[in-house]
Formats: sequence, C-alpha cells, structure tokens
Amino acid sequence: MLPLLCLPLLAILALAAPLESRAPKYNVTSMNEALKRGSEILGTYARCSGSLCSWMSKVPDNTRITDMSIPGTHDTASWDYTLLRQISYLKYTNIIYPSPLYRCGSQSIFAQLAAGNRAFDLRVGFAPNGKDLVFFHSEALLDVNARFEDVMQGFYRFLEENPTEGLVISVKDENATWGTTQALQQSLYTTLTSPLAQQYINPSTSISSTPLSALRGKLTILRRFSLDQLLSNQQTLGIDLTNGWADNNPDFSLSTPAGDKVYIEDLYEPKADKIGLTPNVNLKLDVTTKHITAASGKTKGDGLYLTFASSEQAYQLLFPQVMAQGVIVPGVNQGLKKFLVSGGGKGLKKKGIIFTDFGSETSGFIEAIIA
Ligand SMILES: *[C@@H]1O[C@H](CO)[C@@H](O)[C@H](O)[C@H]1NC(C)=O
Ligand SMILES: *[C@@H]1O[C@H](CO)[C@@H](O)[C@H](O)[C@H]1NC(C)=O
Repeated sequence: MLPLLCLPLLAILALAAPLESRAPKYNVTSMNEALKRGSEILGTYARCSGSLCSWMSKVPDNTRITDMSIPGTHDTASWDYTLLRQISYLKYTNIIYPSPLYRCGSQSIFAQLAAGNRAFDLRVGFAPNGKDLVFFHSEALLDVNARFEDVMQGFYRFLEENPTEGLVISVKDENATWGTTQALQQSLYTTLTSPLAQQYINPSTSISSTPLSALRGKLTILRRFSLDQLLSNQQTLGIDLTNGWADNNPDFSLSTPAGDKVYIEDLYEPKADKIGLTPNVNLKLDVTTKHITAASGKTKGDGLYLTFASSEQAYQLLFPQVMAQGVIVPGVNQGLKKFLVSGGGKGLKKKGIIFTDFGSETSGFIEAIIA
C-alpha cells in the first residue's frame, strides 16, 4: 500500500511529465540556422499538423519495415524548380530541358511529411562554389543555398516532434561537376556520420528484419552512392544499394553486402508502342501494379520492395506532372489510386515503399498507399 501522503505527489508528477519538454538532441541555434538556410528546399518550417502526422503510431512495433506500405516522394527536392528559378541559374547550367521536366512535386518537404510521406529521394552534388552539398535533378541545380545537412536537420526536427514515425531516406550522388567524386563521397559520409546524425540515423546496414520499433524517431539511409574512394573503415553506411541498380528497368533486383534482397520497379521513361499520354500511362500502370502486387505477396522473395510510380517522357513532352496527374485523361496517380481503392489492389498489405511524383497533390492517394 502506498502511504497516502505520496498520492498527491504522484498526481503532480503524472501531470507534470507530459508538460515537461524533453531537451532536444540538437543544438537549437544551429537547427534554426539550418532550417532558415534550407528553407528553399525544406519549405518554411511548421510543426506537423493533421491526421497523417503520426500514422505509424497505429502500426504495431514488431512490424518489419519490409512488411509495411510506405508512401514516399521521388526526387523530393525538385518541388520548387520553376522556370524563374531555372532562368536564374542559367549562368551555372546553361540551356537544359524545360524546367517542368525536372519537377516532381509542388509541395515542400515539410508539407510532404505532413501529407504522410515517410520515404524521400535526395539527390546531391556540389554547389558551384565547389564546397557546399546541394540538390540536383540530373543537370538541374535546384537551389544554391539549401545544403544537404540543412535538409537532414529538417528531418531530425520532424522526428524529434513526431517520435512515433520513422523515415527512409534514399541518398544518391547526382552531380560532381563542381567537385570530385572522392570529395563528394567524403562530404556525404561526414554529414551522415556526424555526432548529430548518429542521434537519428539507424546504424544498421541491413533492413530485412528491422522492426518499426527500431526506426521510430529515426531514419534509415538507402545508400545510392559509393564510398569506394574513402578509407576502408569509411566504406560502410546505411543500406548499400550501389551494386546492380538497373537503369530504366521495370523489374530488377539487387543484393546488399549485408544480405538484403531488394526488388525494384524503376521504369522512369516508359516507351509505349503508341504515341500519347494514355498508352504511356497504361504501360507505367501495368508495371507498377504488378510490382506492388508482387511486394504484397512477396512473390519474388522476401526483402525490400521499392516501386517508383514516377515517370516522364522527354521527347513527347510528357513531364512528370503530366504522367502523374494526367491532362483531361487520367494519369498514373489516379490509375494507381483506383487500383488500390477499388481495383485489383484493394486490401493489399505490405505494399513496400512507393515513391510518387505529385502524390500528395492527388487527393486520397497517399491514404490509399498507407491503407
Ligand atoms: C550551437 O550552435 C551555435 C551556432 O552554430 C554555436 O555557436 C554554439 O557554440 C553551439 N552550442 C553548443 C552548446 O554546441
Ligand atoms: C551536372 O550539372 C551541370 C550543370 O547543369 C551539367 O553541366 C552536368 O552535365 C551535370 N552532370 C550530370 C552528370 O548530370
């Protein structure tokens, strides 16, 4: 029996505990600096609000990450690559394809998170100053100010405030024009192993048996850049996807050195027999729905399934937004949503990670992936 005297004290403690703010694991001053400098890619910081901020809280702790259905954004950082921005960077990039070809969304990273996305596709390279790591989509320089480490801090901030959630961050070395490959590898490695990063990054190099509990409040790196030019003790980091990524391929797999099997659909430029939007959307829908179905049944094998629902076709001016959202006729997103909500994909679980273009701009699509 507790002495009666203790009861008021316990009551006070119970009341005080949720009010007492946990000290953040980050330095507040440098966090604020990073969010400010990174705002052209992160968006203006706002604490996550809305029903999808903690959707993972409803997923049991012991669920394997590879058994979840996780929406993500393809070419995450390209959402504000407008014509004006492209023109302002002409002095660096010269004439490249029209800006809509590089743009894969319209919502900031903080908005993408609030929409329920938990997987992100970051592509980095050196800024023209040869020093800062910034974001690219192929030859398109997306912003000169927002650094890779700033955007990582944005993710840390989200995790700190939404500790039920876990993130999967794919990092690819996209452009080494203003630096060397070796310097790019070193810079990425340094950022992703800093004392701050270690607070948030899951150190495991394997994902197949990782339960959600190990990823709550943390992120895991899908590594799409090599570390082969660094010292031998700096050649391991995250889930190594560098061996065997097939280009523009609807159905391939690769193995990581840690023994994970990864099954991937990444037909980003479908070439249908017939010209026009619908034949190409249908071709993309076909490979995407097949891959999601395979993920759900693990019919290719146990492992991580990545489906890129994103696509474009430069020579027919079918930009990512057109392929994803359609024009008059439906695009891939509407087709996939229908498949998941009322078609052959209805009720499928364990759909894997699905990266979309303009996914959260298609109402109800992200919810259909999570379901
Ligand atoms: C926090 O970051 C600021 C700015 O980068 C720095 O000046 C300060 O020394 C840091 N504080 C601690 C306790 O590390
Ligand atoms: C990197 O970007 C620069 C500037 O736009 C461009 O000249 C170069 O071709 C790009 N490299 C790759 C591999 O995309």
